Amino acid sequence: MSDSLTIRRPDDWHLHLRDGAMMHAVLPETARHFARAIIMPNLVPPVVTGADAAAYRHRILAALPPEMSFQPLMTLYLTEDTDPDDLAAAHASGLITAVKLYPAGATTNSASGVANFDKVRAALERMAEIGLPLCVHGEVTAEDIDIFDREAVFIDRVLDPIRKATPGLRVIMEHITTSDAVDYVRTAGDDLAATITTHHLVINRNHILVGGIRPHYYCLPVAKRENHRLALLAAATSGETRFFLGTDSAPHPDTAKITPCGCAGCFTAPNTMSILAEVFEKANALDRLEGFTSLHGPNFYRLPVNTETITLTKGAPVTYPNTISVEDEQITVFDPEFPLHWSVTA
Ligand code: NCD
Ligand code: ZN
Repeated sequence: MSDSLTIRRPDDWHLHLRDGAMMHAVLPETARHFARAIIMPNLVPPVVTGADAAAYRHRILAALPPEMSFQPLMTLYLTEDTDPDDLAAAHASGLITAVKLYPAGATTNSASGVANFDKVRAALERMAEIGLPLCVHGEVTAEDIDIFDREAVFIDRVLDPIRKATPGLRVIMEHITTSDAVDYVRTAGDDLAATITTHHLVINRNHILVGGIRPHYYCLPVAKRENHRLALLAAATSGETRFFLGTDSAPHPDTAKITPCGCAGCFTAPNTMSILAEVFEKANALDRLEGFTSLHGPNFYRLPVNTETITLTKGAPVTYPNTISVEDEQITVFDPEFPLHWSVTA
């Protein structure tokens, strides 16, 4: 087995960069290895209009260290008041790459999300018409649905009806966590794809709860049973083009994670490529890493693949800082709890 692997520069199809000092701290962690990323719009307040996205994109590019190159692919946060003409204009100008649907209350900063799906019909139909993809946080929020069932129920109650009612709409089911989602994506037409995070390939729900509660493994959608992790791993390493990387790297200060009501999110930007190489190697699928990180995403989004490459090298275990600092706060880096032998060396 070779100890060096050169692949096209990867892209991250689901990333939280936040804003201000936090953004300045986390952006280089992604830009170091990734050429592009789909930028989540769940700021406070959210990125809802083309003007908001233009301003946010400008702040991201201004925060980028001059020696790095990185292209933020902007998204708009779909609300019940979204104006289809604004979406269409932002798409036509090349400003936005996708629109993000959060069911109201599903996750961090999703209060402005959609409660009544009839109210976004016109926007979805317009998106289908102009070829603007929809990124979906796939969880229902009904109080009577157990949190571990929320993704599977979302497929039946929301996603499938939306797709049937909106032919031609291209949908990315983001950060899937269940074998139900894997199966659904496999049987759907080629207008549906799914992203898989780094951490959901590594942890199951025991990591969060056994031997003490571990806030740094709490994210949404919450990690499920081991059989679901194995289904995600099989999908990610299968070479099927409908599955690709969206890290959902979601930094929160430790003070917001370690508290009686801690925030959801795992911060994986610094060590994602090392972890993925380890995971794919263990699955005997290193030759499929490039498809997952660098080819399938652009293919679905109808964007060119990157021409630059990165090289990963295998050697003695590499370590990453446990935390990175933002002003007087710390952000904990995701710990896969296994040694990492691969690192990006060029
Ligand atoms: C994300 C965040 O912190 O913004 N949290 C998470 O657990 N993934 C929101 C999201 O993508 O659900
Ligand atoms: Zn996310």
